[in-house]
Amino acid sequence: MSLMNRIYNLFGFKGNESTVEPVPIITETVSPNVNYTYDSESIQTRTPTQMYPVHPMILARRSMRTMDGKTVDNDSLMSLFEAARWAPSHFNMQNWRFVYATRDSPKWDQYLDSLWALNRLWAKNAGVLVVAMSRKSYVRKGKVELVPTHSFEAGSAWMCMALEGTARGLVVHAMSGFYKDKIANVIGLNGNDNYEIEAMIAIGNRAPPGYFSGLMDKVTTRNAIETFISKETFQESEGSSETIK
Ligand SMILES: Cc1cc2nc3c(=O)[nH]c(=O)nc-3n(C[C@H](O)[C@H](O)[C@H](O)COP(=O)(O)O)c2cc1C
Repeated sequence: MSLMNRIYNLFGFKGNESTVEPVPIITETVSPNVNYTYDSESIQTRTPTQMYPVHPMILARRSMRTMDGKTVDNDSLMSLFEAARWAPSHFNMQNWRFVYATRDSPKWDQYLDSLWALNRLWAKNAGVLVVAMSRKSYVRKGKVELVPTHSFEAGSAWMCMALEGTARGLVVHAMSGFYKDKIANVIGLNGNDNYEIEAMIAIGNRAPPGYFSGLMDKVTTRNAIETFISKETFQESEGSSETIK
């Protein structure tokens, strides 16, 4: 096998001695009983402010709070974790971890009590509460190796979940407003500092149409691209927070 093909194989490309076969583009892999849907309110509100075209799912994802207070179908929940499973990671090590409780679980109240009061107000109507964590190190050849990007990986995985949930019309809402010590205790993590608790996530069915959501489901907008990109050398942008709406 040529050196080039060995390198291709190392990175997971399919190849043989003479050619590297292009991977076909798959346009539809969805099972017939999954109904993908986009939130049109978010898209309509956000489209006029977008600077360049993006896939509608990116605009449709938002952190909604109004949910119906019912359980989330287990297959849908597992599809969200399946989406997380396909996130990219450092050496494909997949250092994300999720611990969850459904609203019919005996642990539900303890999960809920771990949230800050303002989050509890709406997250009580979720069907599932998830603790998103990352693994900070692993042992290789008897040596402890640190994972430099553990939080970044968990972030990638959460975003995959959020997008899958968006496409299914579910609420998938990340939260940093919770008591870390409290939830660590609830999930039995106390004393194990190899895992970082990154965030909690509320997952639920959206409230039926007509449900009054008030300010709870405001469609947010964003800073301009120039406030967070620099060409060639880093330029700190002034006052970008002033543009947050
Ligand atoms: C890591 C993280 C933590 C967040 N924490 C909270 C939270 O504690 N409570 C809350 O209501 N929203 C929380 N949010 C939602 C943000 O407020 C929301 O993403 C932001 O306002 C942008 O709105 P959008 O997600 O609808 O586009 C959090 C989001 C992220 C990604």
